[in-house]
Amino acid sequence: MTRIVYCNGAYLDYAKARVHAEDRGFQFGDAVYEVCEVMCGRLVDETRHLDRLERSLGELQMGNPMSRGAWGHVMREIVRRNRVTDGLLYLQVSRGSSPRDFFFPPEGTPQTVVVLARSTVKARGSDAATAPQGITIKTVPDIRWKRCDIKSVMLLPASLAKEAARAEGAQDAWFVGADGFITEGGSSNAWIVDQDGVLVTTPISNALLRGVTRTTLLDVLKREDVALQERTFTVEEALAAREAFITSATNILTPVTAIDGQPVGNGHPGLLTLKLQGLFHGSAEIAAA
Ligand code: PDD
Repeated sequence: MTRIVYCNGAYLDYAKARVHAEDRGFQFGDAVYEVCEVMCGRLVDETRHLDRLERSLGELQMGNPMSRGAWGHVMREIVRRNRVTDGLLYLQVSRGSSPRDFFFPPEGTPQTVVVLARSTVKARGSDAATAPQGITIKTVPDIRWKRCDIKSVMLLPASLAKEAARAEGAQDAWFVGADGFITEGGSSNAWIVDQDGVLVTTPISNALLRGVTRTTLLDVLKREDVALQERTFTVEEALAAREAFITSATNILTPVTAIDGQPVGNGHPGLLTLKLQGLFHGSAEIAAA
């Protein structure tokens, strides 16, 4: 449970944390966000998340309302005040609040900044007792805009996709572009081990988010000398894959055991998937508390 929220410069009780009715994030989806894993009370891959935040802000011609030092301070303070040991930190920056107008508000309008953190009970790593059994996926048409590289809060397509997946008993969705290739998950990057045993993930473009977990996993692959093909893959190829998994700050590396009702491989988490899951935090940046 989140108890304390950082909201526009103040640490407030959860029930009292409010943003304005005319916030641009609320009216236009004019806001960006980051989700960062918290492990043992420490932020995971803070630098990469703040780098991406900076990029998202820049792509939307928004300034960064806080220095790196200030972000680091507030993020740690929120983890500490909420007594989060294992969980996640969420931060959001909007263009601020002003009377509704499609044009940007005047220069100098204060941006809205919200930071919160909560504990999660989550299966992690190679711990056999808690290793996730894997999730099932439904593929859905990718109806999102053409700048999915920006981590904006316009998440309605992802929400609809996940609900459609849930309605069919699946836990998550993978987006399929108009060209028939899988772009990414509803809130994750998508990976398969193809029929030749090669690890494959969709190459970075404006059609998907450059996941921080994805980037850190690339470091693991280099360190472990695991071959990777960054190339597009179709639903048919995913259905024929030996293994599949997703990566995100909230799920780290989670096996996919079925896609559209068909088992992936033998229907159990794959061996490479579990190996990489166990190695992940060895390459992640674990910040000082
Ligand atoms: N989502 N692709 C999409 C569309 C995402 O929303 C996310 C993360 C990722 C993975 O990025 P990262 O590895 O940096 O978490 C890829 C977050 C976790 C969320 O919206 O909750």
